[in-house]
Amino acid sequence: METLKIIKDNNPLLRKKSVEVSMPLSKEDKDTLLNMLNYLKNSQDERYREKHPEVKEGIGLAAPQIGILKRMLVVYFKREDEEVTHVLVNPMIISNSARKCALSAGEGCLSVDNKHEGVVYRDYKIKVKAYDALLNKDVTITAIGLESIVLQHEIDHLSGILYYDRINKMNPNFIPEGFVEI
Ligand code: NI
Repeated sequence: METLKIIKDNNPLLRKKSVEVSMPLSKEDKDTLLNMLNYLKNSQDERYREKHPEVKEGIGLAAPQIGILKRMLVVYFKREDEEVTHVLVNPMIISNSARKCALSAGEGCLSVDNKHEGVVYRDYKIKVKAYDALLNKDVTITAIGLESIVLQHEIDHLSGILYYDRINKMNPNFIPEGFVEI
């Protein structure tokens, strides 16, 4: 399997809007998604990173980050004893909680090398409709906390939005009362 090249935020492609993927899913698009999933899994393997120092650890990746402007994304991380895996095509947020949350350490992105001080406000709970290319069916995902944050971050990439666009420059580390800190 070829190693994916992640483009960085100085590349204008990351500011473009991605297009809807035509269904049924082509073999090419499915292979792209499986490559992306494999990239994330490898990125979480310390020994792999030692051999590939250019690879940063990541838990989410959107197709525009490999230069493909299609509405596709992958999420993969381990939570307690379970693996959270989403291999999504044409994701759409269909509902969100009034309750907000934020990663208190701030977010990161495989396409962003510079440190951007500050937190990003996200919806604590969302529902996402999509086609899951691993399960080969339409899914409705209910996500809370970190899973919700990662999905929102990756879906933002499909609109050309980067996490630091959402940091309040006047008061970057302020988290309002009632927000869930993760
Ligand atoms: Ni990102």
